[in-house]
Amino acid sequence: MPLELTGVDLTTEEIRTDRLLLRPPRPDDEDAVLRACQDPDVLRWTASLPDPYTRDDARAWVRDIAPGERAGGKGLPCVVEAAGGLVGSAGLVFLDAGRVEVGYWTAPWARRRGYATEATVALVGWAFAHAAEGVLLRAAVGNTASQEVARRAGFRPDGVQHGGIRRLDGTRLDAAVFRLERSGRDAETACPVSGHVTHSKSHDMCRLIITPPIRWCGEASGSHEAAGCDVAGRGADRERR
Ligand SMILES: CC(C)(COP(=O)(O)OP(=O)(O)OC[C@H]1O[C@@H](n2cnc3c(N)ncnc32)[C@H](O)[C@@H]1OP(=O)(O)O)[C@@H](O)C(=O)NCCC(=O)NCCS
Repeated sequence: MPLELTGVDLTTEEIRTDRLLLRPPRPDDEDAVLRACQDPDVLRWTASLPDPYTRDDARAWVRDIAPGERAGGKGLPCVVEAAGGLVGSAGLVFLDAGRVEVGYWTAPWARRRGYATEATVALVGWAFAHAAEGVLLRAAVGNTASQEVARRAGFRPDGVQHGGIRRLDGTRLDAAVFRLERSGRDAETACPVSGHVTHSKSHDMCRLIITPPIRWCGEASGSHEAAGCDVAGRGADRERR
């Protein structure tokens, strides 16, 4: 079943958490995106980013690519803001059959404050509130920090996808696959982490009853090919196989 997006304007959709605002990228994010994407770890582990990452790349993402993905119903790329400043990017790519993939980076000046985890939990909550069947998260095998974010956000490891992450230069990285499946129960009970109260423009997620009824996916690893999440990169379609 596809996502239920009736009444959702993806071009303006925002999600709020206790500390964060996940909102559409804007032209005035260009400088902060450019600065954050000079970080070697962001460039190393975020496959959708060109390396070197130039001002033109940042400008294209905030002005054209991210708005285009939202307008085209391909996903929900977001700037993550805390206390009025950009602290990262996180987003969803809409796959087939109500499945989504989540991705993120945190700016080097804002790390180890739980922002990536909080943004991921919020996006998972949004996806389940809009009838997603499951959420995929793939991190390079060597990216232990991102794998820990996945675990903390309630994802279950589901093996390794050999060469599952394709970089812009054509090289591939093995992907540690994580999944979070919606149970057969009401999506409104499918929030994996307690204590996060979230609102989105389209859905009052305060009504989420926060208990962990997650049904872990036992799907064979490597069997699922998916899109990479576009977080300040060159677009979700780039990763489609
Ligand atoms: C991975 C990344 C997104 C983490 O962002 P973050 O906002 O700092 O993550 P959180 O604060 O939510 O971290 C949650 C936990 O993950 C683990 N973790 C995060 N960064 C870590 C690091 N550099 N080294 C070891 N563990 C780390 C810690 O256990 C951390 O909890 P703690 O700070 O209480 O110990 C960030 O380092 C980053 O942007 N890296 C480069 C891009 C990237 O890897 N993106 C993901 C691609 S799949």
